[in-house]
Amino acid sequence: MMSDIPGDRRAKIIAVAGKGGTGKTVITSLLLRFLAEDGERVLVIDADPATSLPATLGVKVTRTIGDVREEIASPSSVFFSESMPTDMLIEYRIDEITVKTPRFSLLAMGRSEGPGCYCLINDMLRHFIDRLSSRYSTILIDCEAGLEHLSRRTTQDVDTMLVVSDATRRGIDTAAAIAYLAADLHINFGQILLVLNKVTDKVIPMLDDMVKASGLTLIGMVPEDENIRAFDLEGKPLLELPEDSKAVVAVRAIYDKLIAVGDAVSDS
Ligand SMILES: Nc1ncnc2c1ncn2[C@@H]1O[C@H](COP(=O)(O)OP(=O)(O)O)[C@@H](O)[C@H]1O
Ligand SMILES: [Mg+2]
Repeated sequence: MMSDIPGDRRAKIIAVAGKGGTGKTVITSLLLRFLAEDGERVLVIDADPATSLPATLGVKVTRTIGDVREEIASPSSVFFSESMPTDMLIEYRIDEITVKTPRFSLLAMGRSEGPGCYCLINDMLRHFIDRLSSRYSTILIDCEAGLEHLSRRTTQDVDTMLVVSDATRRGIDTAAAIAYLAADLHINFGQILLVLNKVTDKVIPMLDDMVKASGLTLIGMVPEDENIRAFDLEGKPLLELPEDSKAVVAVRAIYDKLIAVGDAVSDS
């Protein structure tokens, strides 16, 4: 298939995974900030049905892939009767529900399917999401805890999966379980890296051993940041956090490491 990207380079895919409440959406938003600042054309995919990413990014999503799936599946569907070919119509619809801003685009997956066989529709939707992806240089996925969305992907590799965890033994064990789950999927992961979030000074001395025991590779730690709580309370988008906010500085360091590793891989 033809790609819209010069030189036929596919988009880099970064997936942010982890248990609910660990900070996937926060980390995704902060990574997006730096990707956008670097001039990447970013498509953010909100794959968590309990979606809070749009509000965190300060945008509104009214329709999701879940809605399109229901439309296609509904008995009164216009998809198979209109004069426009079905594939064009689906592509058009996905483009239509993608929220576009000067800094990024956002596509929400919405709820997962109800009972019934949606495999064919899902395959079709995936095909068109992949097509849409080729217009972007980076795809950033805010995953749901169970990785269902990723597990349905069969066509593309994920360059980097970040597993976010709080700084506790139990949290890190869960992160390791998610990383093993990912390794069992039929997807190639370039790298799976651990991000410890909401880290306080108190726990830092104990983290080294816990991380070693988990077998995961730590890319960075993000401190507990009172600005995030304040912004969330007021409903202010996290993209507007001050540049010197603790979590912003920490995610910047993680971002720089990711870029450095990415360059090393593509140079070799
Ligand atoms: N580094 C941090 N400092 C302070 N609060 C944080 C931090 N990271 C996340 N939070 C808070 O933790 C809660 C869960 O974060 P969220 O990103 O929504 O988690 P997830 O997407 O994994 O469910 C939110 O209320 C958020 O404000
Ligand atoms: Mg979330």
